[in-house]
Amino acid sequence: MTRRLPPDPEGIAEAASLLRAGELVAIPTETVYGLAADARSATAVARVFEAKGRPHFNPLIVHLPEASAVWREVEPDARARALADSFWPGALTLVLPRSAGCRVDLLAGAGLETLAVRVPAHPVAQALLRSFAGPLAAPSANRSGRVSPTTAQHVEEELGGRIAALLDGGPCRVGVESTVLDLTGPQAVVLRPGGVPIEALRAVIDGVVPPLSHALASRGGVGLRSPGLLLGHYAPSLPLRIDATAVGPSEALLAFGPPLPGAALVEQLSETGDLVEAASRLFAALRHLDAEGTRRGLSGIAAMAVPRDGLGAAIEDRLRRAAQG
Ligand code: TXA
Ligand code: MG
Repeated sequence: MTRRLPPDPEGIAEAASLLRAGELVAIPTETVYGLAADARSATAVARVFEAKGRPHFNPLIVHLPEASAVWREVEPDARARALADSFWPGALTLVLPRSAGCRVDLLAGAGLETLAVRVPAHPVAQALLRSFAGPLAAPSANRSGRVSPTTAQHVEEELGGRIAALLDGGPCRVGVESTVLDLTGPQAVVLRPGGVPIEALRAVIDGVVPPLSHALASRGGVGLRSPGLLLGHYAPSLPLRIDATAVGPSEALLAFGPPLPGAALVEQLSETGDLVEAASRLFAALRHLDAEGTRRGLSGIAAMAVPRDGLGAAIEDRLRRAAQG
């Protein structure tokens, strides 16, 4: 059952303790409700994707209580610092390179080298982040393909029974998601319009462009239908083949269940066929096989098939993209 927690010190302390135990808690923010998990825990993050029923791993936004905490996890530049001064806490998410000491699990960022970070303004979110004292990964608290919830009742309808608790902070003030701004290139690209208007961003930094003009400029007129398509995805440098039923002696194996015999190097996603465990290990396992396989001069990576149900669909989607290079 999903417990409804009041937004008082006891409710907030209980939410923080559930999150520390790797459970999922829906939390109010000023934009929309988020489905929060400890961003350092691969298993907790995998549960987020499972609860949302996402067919693929979108990178999640990581929430922290203040800018100084954010700069531990990502590398800010002058633009990021200026925007943080103007808009945090608030409805602006910045995409920046992960820092060397970044503690956020790879799955939370869908394997990317970048991370989306935000300091929410909602007093309950603020109190929870300070009590939890760590990064919280939180996508909007809706099932995949549905609109973002802006009341506790919406969250109940979306995720009731699928998550440990729901912290009730009343209706969300802003009601639309945060603006997502990519600062990883020379232009500041708005990946998703949201609570902070583009004009407000332009009053603080130069070179802010909407996603379409960026896409047209950089891809020679090939239009992009969705901002999601601007996302790069993690691809190993060794060739990857999927649905392997046999493995060669110069190949590394990404195993799911009992490993195929004969591989030069093996990483196990889940011995017992547990898809949450498999998702939590996916990116770390791929990176390890890629680095170690390259070091040993192996010819490629063979990935065993994963069932397509539940999180298996998202795992398969990532593997297929990685296989396309
Ligand atoms: O207002 C909000 O942003 C809410 C509250 C809960 O904070 N969160 C939210 O999260 O809307 P979500 O997961 O539904 O949307 C996150 C957006 C997605 O469009 C995702 O593709 C983008 O942020 N995003 C996350 N990490 C990214 C990254 N490393 N690079 C580019 N885009 C990223
Ligand atoms: Mg969403």
